[in-house]
Amino acid sequence: MRYDSKSSSANTDPVTLPRVYRGAGMRLVSVTGGKGGVGKSSIAVNLAIALSRLGGRVMLLDGDLGLANADQMLGVHAPATLWDVMRGHVDLPSAILDTPHGISLLPAASGRQEMAELDSAARVDLIRGVRDAGQRFDYVVVDTAAGIGETAVTLAGAGDIILAVATPDPTSVRDAFSIMKILSQNQKVERISLVANMVGSRQEGLALFKQISSVTGRFLPLSLGLAGHVVRDPSIQRAIMERRPLLAAYPGSPASKQIQDIATHIITSQRDPGGAASSGRMLR
Ligand SMILES: Nc1ncnc2c1ncn2[C@@H]1O[C@H](COP(=O)(O)OP(=O)(O)O)[C@@H](O)[C@H]1O
Ligand SMILES: [Mg+2]
Repeated sequence: MRYDSKSSSANTDPVTLPRVYRGAGMRLVSVTGGKGGVGKSSIAVNLAIALSRLGGRVMLLDGDLGLANADQMLGVHAPATLWDVMRGHVDLPSAILDTPHGISLLPAASGRQEMAELDSAARVDLIRGVRDAGQRFDYVVVDTAAGIGETAVTLAGAGDIILAVATPDPTSVRDAFSIMKILSQNQKVERISLVANMVGSRQEGLALFKQISSVTGRFLPLSLGLAGHVVRDPSIQRAIMERRPLLAAYPGSPASKQIQDIATHIITSQRDPGGAASSGRMLR
């Protein structure tokens, strides 16, 4: 586990921040968690911005295909979405739009039930299209839908780095374990990193990690790392109401700093392939 005081204080001193290493090729970072409302979208959107501030070229894919909200969180209007791509109205690269926050967005549609579950051919096409279009980026961050539907699970499992968001809520803990079990058994994922969200303190984040890793360690052939923690912070809700990303609206808030720490952790671990944020896929 790589979770020390060095990483949590790193963003207070810009000189010590690691920069994204561009020669590494594109990395797909998927954000999953099983349960709805645990903070997947908030963390995906702001982590994407944090990675771009560390020098990365970043695209965010709104993988909540039927109930998109990344566009709202970023305060942008999407002229075309993956819905238009799937219907052949635009090609995938044309649907990617720039945002005022330094990242690009591949937006999904909201209120399109047909998009919520793709058939397996459409899933393969989507992931291939995203990987192709993603080549001009250092990171593609993928927000995923709640639940254990095939589309959400496939998108989560496609990550080179897989982050699972869980809160101390017992239903979240159980759902996080369930999604990890499915990713391990069905997608042969070997490594996942936990983001302990809505915790009261770093200690509570560590306790949540220990709680979940003691179960995964016993029952799954899966290595669970800790990517970091994010405290319960009213700034997150405020930023959503203002349709501005947290990192832009409240850069000094505890949650902003902790999400930046997670970005730093991802970059640092990537340099060390055995590090906590790298999935089994990177090692193959
Ligand atoms: N660390 C946090 N502190 C306080 N509120 C949070 C935190 N993370 C998420 N939330 C709130 O929880 C709700 C669900 O967040 P969201 O990111 O949409 O979750 P998901 O994508 O998992 O459904 C939002 O209202 C958001 O403001
Ligand atoms: Mg969401």
